[in-house]
Amino acid sequence: MKTTPISTNLVDTILKELQIEKIGKASIRQIVKLVNEIEKASGVPFIRMEMGVPGISATQIGVDAEIKALERGVASIYPSIEGIPEVKKEISRFVKLFLDVDVSENGCVPTVGSMQGAYASFLALNRRHKDRQTTLFIDPGFPVQKAQLKTLGLPFKSFDVYNYRNEKLKDKLLEIIADGTISSIIYSNPNNPSWICFTENELKTIAEIANKYDIVVIEDLAYFGMDFREDYGNPGVAPYQPSIAKYTDNYFLLISSSKVFSYAGQRIASLVISDKLFNQKFENLSSYFGMDSLGQAVIYGALYTLSSGTSHASQFALAAMLKAVNNGEYKFLDYVKVYKEKAKLMKKIFVENAFSIVYDKDIDKELADGFYFTISYKGLSSEDLLHRLLYFGISAISLDITGSERKDGLRACTSTIKVEQLPELANRLKIFNNYTFEKC
Ligand SMILES: Cc1ncc(COP(=O)(O)O)c(C=O)c1O
Repeated sequence: MKTTPISTNLVDTILKELQIEKIGKASIRQIVKLVNEIEKASGVPFIRMEMGVPGISATQIGVDAEIKALERGVASIYPSIEGIPEVKKEISRFVKLFLDVDVSENGCVPTVGSMQGAYASFLALNRRHKDRQTTLFIDPGFPVQKAQLKTLGLPFKSFDVYNYRNEKLKDKLLEIIADGTISSIIYSNPNNPSWICFTENELKTIAEIANKYDIVVIEDLAYFGMDFREDYGNPGVAPYQPSIAKYTDNYFLLISSSKVFSYAGQRIASLVISDKLFNQKFENLSSYFGMDSLGQAVIYGALYTLSSGTSHASQFALAAMLKAVNNGEYKFLDYVKVYKEKAKLMKKIFVENAFSIVYDKDIDKELADGFYFTISYKGLSSEDLLHRLLYFGISAISLDITGSERKDGLRACTSTIKVEQLPELANRLKIFNNYTFEKC
């Protein structure tokens, strides 16, 4: 095979035009823009695996509730920043029914996506103590959260957890927090991008350290229940989605609606603050927010100044979706299981074409199939692999930007690729695997 499906010159010219010098360092949105431009110029539709956009329609219950709310006239009325009573009630019920954790409605607050939930959490949590402002990322992770801390001018540390699973986790955490600067710890579970899932023991370890050293754990549950090896989808019935909230009161939970309800466009999520933290006072907060209670600082300090609350209509949507889920009328995980099926098929195609799965084990168990998986190819760097795949009309993101220690991997997202496109993926990967590159 002498030519690539897309001209190498064309791809390289567009890379230059967009001033992307190192594709391995490009952000997700930069890759989206790049691929849009290449598709436009080449006329070749990509197999797009770069961005975690839901691949299915928004939950209709939410859409209907939102339309009704708009027709009632909520658009002209500022919403409560704390959240409308209906949504606060259903978030609290959801936490009880799907995590088996009690939390009062006060600490259940809608946010403009989990993006805003994280931003507000960083803003408030890392200002509790003058001398402790650092966030620790248990990586690999979602790169935008580090970008948020950069915009806030707040420090962070990180480590790749893959080599510190299970009993090794405690010592690693103790080593990192030893300098006494860590104020919060954040991770996603299931993990974006590797799809590893913490065990109850690991969560206990993190919680013990949080309790002992007054660290708040920000648990990002953007992919709630999507470890499909277990069925976490039945209200009030075990097994429950594993959560730090079972083991410590030092928690903030971020529960996005973007993936579980395919509601990314409406930018709504739940921020859940433990009762203890919600009512706790920290003198240092006063100079930033004019109040010393953490719950009040998050709502009337951070969220007020960021957006003065979350869109009124989408609060009604979230309330309605959660109510249906809580009442057992809507089995939300049944609708997103399609990602598991696709991951299984896609991984097989990659492996058949000489790729390897980078994060391939969950301690001693097989990794779950879900929204993301990670790939490498014959020791190529992430930079080179991503660059070369573009010539074959395939896009992903580099693990380099996720805090992964692996410099040879990419994250692939299963969401937007259609099952009908899988033969084309197989075809392109076969050509890729047989192609001899002179230089990249
Ligand atoms: C781990 C993680 N956290 C947060 C988000 C953002 O969620 P939202 O769309 O609710 O802002 C994402 C989106 O991909 C994510 O993967």
